[in-house]
Amino acid sequence: MLDLEAEKALVAARAVNEIQAGMLVGLGTGSTSACAIRLLGARVAAGLQIEATATSLATERLARALNINLRSFEDISIVDLTIDGADQIDANLRAIKGGGGALFREKIVAAASTRTIIIADSSKLAPVLGVGQSLPLEVLPFAAAFVERCLREAGLAVSRRREPKGTLAVTDQQNYLFDVDFGAIHDPLQLATWLASIPGVIEHGLFLSEINELFIADKGQVRVIVK
Ligand code: A5P
Repeated sequence: MLDLEAEKALVAARAVNEIQAGMLVGLGTGSTSACAIRLLGARVAAGLQIEATATSLATERLARALNINLRSFEDISIVDLTIDGADQIDANLRAIKGGGGALFREKIVAAASTRTIIIADSSKLAPVLGVGQSLPLEVLPFAAAFVERCLREAGLAVSRRREPKGTLAVTDQQNYLFDVDFGAIHDPLQLATWLASIPGVIEHGLFLSEINELFIADKGQVRVIVK
C-alpha cells in the first residue's frame, strides 16, 4: 500500500500525462495540485510548450518559480484542461473544496474548463459528502455577522477560519472563510441553492457540476471515474 503522499504523486503524474503541447492548463491549489504543478514544471523544463492559469496566488507563485508560462485569468474565457484537488469527493463527482481557501477562483476556472480532472488520494473518496468534513464558505467581511447569524439560526456549527497566529484568515479576494459543519449532505443541490440565497455568501465549496473526471488512488493504482 502507498502512503497518502505517494498516492498524491501517483495521481498527479497520471493527470499531468494528459497535458499536451499547445494547451491552456488550469492549475489547481493545495498539496495534491502542487505535486502536479511540480511535475508539469519538469515537463516544461524538458521542452513542453503550454500556457497555464492559476487558481490562487500561492499557485501562481509556485508556477512562476518553475518557469511555467502563466496567463492572467482575467483575459481567459476558456481553459482546455484543469487539474485540481479536493477535500472530499463522491462517486458522482460531486466534491467539497476550499480547505486551502481557494474555492472561489477554483470554481470559476473549473467552470471555464472544457475538462476538469480532480486528483485525489484514497482518503478523499466519501460515500456521502460532509461526513467528517466541514464545508468552506467565502463570505464578504461586511456581511460576516449577518451570515453567521443566518447559519446559526439554521442550527449549524460555524467556525470562522483563522491563521495560526489567531488573526482571521482572508482569501485572495480579501474575504473571510467560514467552515460550516453540515454533517451528512444528502441533498447537495438543495444545500447549494440555499447557501447561494444568503446575501453575503460569495461562494461555497460544493462543486456539483464542474468536475468531469476523477483520478483517485486505489490500492496502488489510479482509478479513473468519468461523469
Ligand atoms: C484549495 O482551496 C482546495 O480546494 C484544495 O484543492 C483542496 O483543499 C485539496 O487540497 P489538498 O490537495 O492539499 O488535500
